[in-house]
Amino acid sequence: MNPRRIVLAVSGGIAAYKAPELVRALTGAGHNVRCVMTRDATRFVSPLVLEALSQHPVGDDLFDSQSGEIDHIAIADWAEVVLVAPITANLIAKLARGITDDLVTAVVLATRAPLLVAPAMNVNMWNDEVTQRNLAALRERGFETVGPDAGDLACGWQGEGRMSDPAVIADAAERVLTAQSLSGQRVIVTAGGTSEPIDSVRSVTNRSSGKMGFAIAAQAALRGADVLLVAGETPLATPFGVDRIDVGSALEMHEVVLRELAGAQVVIKAAAVADFRPREASTLKIKKEDLAPDGGLQIDLVRNPDILADVCTEVKASGGKQVVVGFAAESHDVIPAAQRKLERKGCDLIVANDISRSDAGFNVDENAVSFVWPEGEIEELALLPKSQVAAELLDRVEKLLGERT
Ligand SMILES: Cc1cc2nc3c(=O)[nH]c(=O)nc-3n(C[C@H](O)[C@H](O)[C@H](O)COP(=O)(O)O)c2cc1C
Repeated sequence: MNPRRIVLAVSGGIAAYKAPELVRALTGAGHNVRCVMTRDATRFVSPLVLEALSQHPVGDDLFDSQSGEIDHIAIADWAEVVLVAPITANLIAKLARGITDDLVTAVVLATRAPLLVAPAMNVNMWNDEVTQRNLAALRERGFETVGPDAGDLACGWQGEGRMSDPAVIADAAERVLTAQSLSGQRVIVTAGGTSEPIDSVRSVTNRSSGKMGFAIAAQAALRGADVLLVAGETPLATPFGVDRIDVGSALEMHEVVLRELAGAQVVIKAAAVADFRPREASTLKIKKEDLAPDGGLQIDLVRNPDILADVCTEVKASGGKQVVVGFAAESHDVIPAAQRKLERKGCDLIVANDISRSDAGFNVDENAVSFVWPEGEIEELALLPKSQVAAELLDRVEKLLGERT
């Protein structure tokens, strides 16, 4: 979205084999990546692979200049962020002491860019007091860390020490590069379709993928918000830095959102909540033999609670400081329907999207939305990736928050 200059420093642990995947994740997001390696890292992964993927020469020697300049200073100055992944116990110790006897340590000490490190090592090396002390010294100097995760380790042990997934590290780097404009704000985002049970195996649901809500949650977390994602039916992975509660029905979503509301400054309701649910759900599977041979199954539907309206009522009752955003997914008559919804519910903003378009809305990666405001203004956005729609929306939310403090 916003191409940045990222230096990836790789040190000599087994997890170095994931470095090429990390370069792909970063370049895939549009960033410009230059790699440097310790001598021992080159025993685990070939510099040629990183060179081919990053399309930049890869340095591993402090005294072998690739550019005719003093490489470690030129690279350190070029960086907008320096990422060390994996970082070995050895390199953590050296950096804690300020040792600069190779290209990686010299780049790290010389740069003024933010630093993010992803440790990876055997669980006992990780838990050793000296490693923890050295890491604490780096954190004290402003180094950010991501991972390690717990699980099966390449050395055969189990426990903490696995390097985080490259996608997670790439997200963490994105966060380091993003202005923390929502820091200190608790944001609730709902996403996905609800699922209204008919019996123990069947339900009434809809085609919402949850992608829009997940993109908003991810973007809010990148901006430093404390994000709670209340997710309906969706196979999507939880975005980096986001807390998630999974719910099934609209009733469950209603309960969670209303319970969490008091602690939040922002509520964004991107979920596709079913308006109706079966009056009664059978606890057992309804069998065909139990029905008359020529008869169908009648399902009596009753109205679900209106989560957005109830949120707006609560917010008004408590002084109206929170920002509440609703979504209106409509197949026709889109803007007037969104305006009616805005008036009925009393929220701050409605995001209207036309789900009749095949290139936008449900289950695709792009969306064409309009922001519908209470004063009558309508802002129509072009067809954009959902991450960018999320960024545009959060810019408006930040403005509303600013006006209320
Ligand atoms: C097969 C093998 C795997 C290793 N894996 C790790 C590891 O995952 N993490 C770690 O901190 N050290 C690991 N080491 C030890 C480092 O390679 C060693 O400390 C080395 O000096 C690190 O150099 P560097 O920090 O300059 O890259 C491993 C060593 C070997 C032989």
